[in-house]
Amino acid sequence: MLAIEGLNAHYGASHVLQGVDIEVPAGTIACVLGRNGVGKTTTVRAIMGLLPPSSGRVLLDGQDIAGWAPHRVARAGVAYVPEGRLIFPDLTVIENIRVAERRPAKTWPLHRLMELFPALHERAGNKGSQLSGGEQQMLAIARALVSDPKVLLLDEPSQGLAPLVARELARVIRLLCRDGVTVLLIEQNLKLAEEVADRLAIMVKGRIVYSATPAMFRADEDAVRRRYLMV
Ligand SMILES: Nc1ncnc2c1ncn2[C@@H]1O[C@H](COP(=O)(O)OP(=O)(O)O)[C@@H](O)[C@H]1O
Ligand SMILES: [Mg+2]
Repeated sequence: MLAIEGLNAHYGASHVLQGVDIEVPAGTIACVLGRNGVGKTTTVRAIMGLLPPSSGRVLLDGQDIAGWAPHRVARAGVAYVPEGRLIFPDLTVIENIRVAERRPAKTWPLHRLMELFPALHERAGNKGSQLSGGEQQMLAIARALVSDPKVLLLDEPSQGLAPLVARELARVIRLLCRDGVTVLLIEQNLKLAEEVADRLAIMVKGRIVYSATPAMFRADEDAVRRRYLMV
């Protein structure tokens, strides 16, 4: 479904992504972990075309979309929920979703989103600024889903959320995946990552240095954490 091969990207002279390889088979959740500043956000931005990669391939169902303009990447079926959510504070929940809907959603029409996120249903008429952090994150995901994506890129969705809310988020991500959405999840929350991901990868200095199933990861968790994740 989504395969990133040898992806390189630069910010000016700074060589941030140094040959990133990630594979996300259809209907699975892959999670990329890593310390701050290693290139996780840059990876999703490069996939999305927000930072054109300098080389490498981004294969979506076998088609190389590397370097496509963001709107084309979106139209090809990739949706992106950025770090920090970026919802419109002065628009209501429903309006936030509506502005993202370019054409009537087929797979994820409004009523289905409201089923998926009961908390948003209750808050449908509330403004973005009146929502809790968890509700804002749910709204950001709902907004991404109205484009009926095949692949969803989530950048640190659990950031700043209480453990219970993060758990609810994990439940929703699992449901989405069961309903056919393929997910590339960036996380710093190890517990959440282990709970939802089919595959875990660790990035260090713009490269994937470790990849495992959650079971394999658990077996060498202490060593891996000390080596790659602790600051
Ligand atoms: N807009 C930018 N211009 C220049 N350098 C950037 C920019 N955004 C990020 N960087 C640098 O690229 C590296 C990777 O950043 P990022 O992908 O945001 O890391 P992560 O998401 O893993 O914390 C960091 O060294 C960061 O300082
Ligand atoms: Mg980041």
